[in-house]
Amino acid sequence: MSARTYFIRTYGCQMNEHDSERAAGVLETMGYRPAPDPESAGLVLLNTCAIRENADNKLYGQLSHLKPLKLADPSKTIVVGGCLAQKDQDKLAEKAPYVDVVYGTHNMGRLPELLAQADSASLPVVEILEHTQMFPSALPSMREVRHHAWVSISIGCDNTCAFCIVPSLRGPEKSRKLGDIVSETRELVADGVTEITLLGQNVNSYGRDLVRAGEVPAEFADGSRNRTLFAELLHMLGDVDGLDRIRFTSPHPKDFTSDVFAAMRDVPTVMEQLHLPLQAGSDRILKLMQRSYRSRRFLDLVAEARDTIPGLAISTDIIVGFPGETEADFQATLDVTEQARFDSAFTFKYSKRPGTTAVDLPDHVEQHVMDERFIRLAELTKRLSAESHARQVGTVQEVVVEGPSKTDDTRLSGRTRHNRLVHFPVVEGLASGATTNVAVTDAAAHYLLGEVTDAAVTPAVPTPGPATALA
Ligand code: SAH
Ligand code: SF4
Ligand code: F3S
Repeated sequence: MSARTYFIRTYGCQMNEHDSERAAGVLETMGYRPAPDPESAGLVLLNTCAIRENADNKLYGQLSHLKPLKLADPSKTIVVGGCLAQKDQDKLAEKAPYVDVVYGTHNMGRLPELLAQADSASLPVVEILEHTQMFPSALPSMREVRHHAWVSISIGCDNTCAFCIVPSLRGPEKSRKLGDIVSETRELVADGVTEITLLGQNVNSYGRDLVRAGEVPAEFADGSRNRTLFAELLHMLGDVDGLDRIRFTSPHPKDFTSDVFAAMRDVPTVMEQLHLPLQAGSDRILKLMQRSYRSRRFLDLVAEARDTIPGLAISTDIIVGFPGETEADFQATLDVTEQARFDSAFTFKYSKRPGTTAVDLPDHVEQHVMDERFIRLAELTKRLSAESHARQVGTVQEVVVEGPSKTDDTRLSGRTRHNRLVHFPVVEGLASGATTNVAVTDAAAHYLLGEVTDAAVTPAVPTPGPATALA
């Protein structure tokens, strides 16, 4: 084991992936170098998530695996950061007293000081701040891949979705200044980045706090610009030379405005891909969830988005078994899912999170009912993904190479503009980050197969939108 080496394990969402890249950057500036596994690393950092109960279980499982390593070699440093650390600070120190440092979601920049304190402490050094001191993007970063970067445009969330623990862990929404985002993006491009993903818990409400605080040009404050700050940001980033692909996640359906769809259409570097979380198809359940749109509005948005942006691919998040969900409510989720024809979906079983309002709702759904609904929904979303992929067969797609396929080294893997995963036979000289055209020859629910071709990219294949919307 080498003392100045580190290994980071990341749980949870893209915010955490981004935070881990920052943590790696901070450690590298302190002289640490990456280790291949937790066993050989001098410092192990677990960047935790608390969104569902199994995230908690995973962390405590991982900690019990690290305990004998720490007992065998007390000079090993174990750090627990992120959302679960924010939630469980005291429990963590009590359950795993061999941990050296516990830090929350707002104080990663303090890592060097916390590590120094841990050197002379016998109990875990715990520091949890209630508010963000500094945007994580101001810290150095070690990117996992050279050509892609996460760019955080806002942190926190002002919504009160009844199931969700995120606002209590990440605090109220705070947007970064437009100019700071654009200058970070320019620096990233100068450093070899060609693709960025803009991050925010509620990415399309970007800038409302800046407008409220009067920190924007007058034409945005008085509405005369006729464009939201988020749409403006997409246009500004579209003008950054050398930046080829822009994605963003996660928008909230209630905050979608037509100018954002128009920007997605008009800015060629904004990809034809949208993550639009439905959560539930029943209006009664949406209301209980405190999600302020209803299924009609959601389907209208899907139709408007597909009408405006040719070939758009839409992914979603859906929860089954929210308290009070009846068979009829669940059927509504299946119906809306079928009508929206999502190109892909992340499906979750409702998980009780202490401190959220859903915990106190009546009629929690029995586990076996939840399990059975989850399977039915997964069958439907898998069929929709397979249908969406089957429509790509015979087309030529613009693909950015990610690297060798994880399961077959005779193949490369890449992503289409729609963020579809494609595998294709290795071509000499095509490295990670390169753009190429791939003729799609075959499709499965979760990936496409193809071959590199000289043929021109095919116009995007439309996914049929909801038949009844936008009457
Ligand atoms: N800010 C993002 C969501 C972050 S959490 C957004 O609003 O889109 C990612 C997803 O996890 C959510 O969209 C939801 O589908 C799921 N999720 C959140 N809390 C959950 C819970 N208590 N049980 C099950 N799934 C949950
Ligand atoms: Fe959670 Fe809702 Fe905020 Fe997303 S919008 S982070 S689901 S409270
Ligand atoms: Fe998990 Fe925190 Fe993200 S709870 S989903 S890592 S914001």
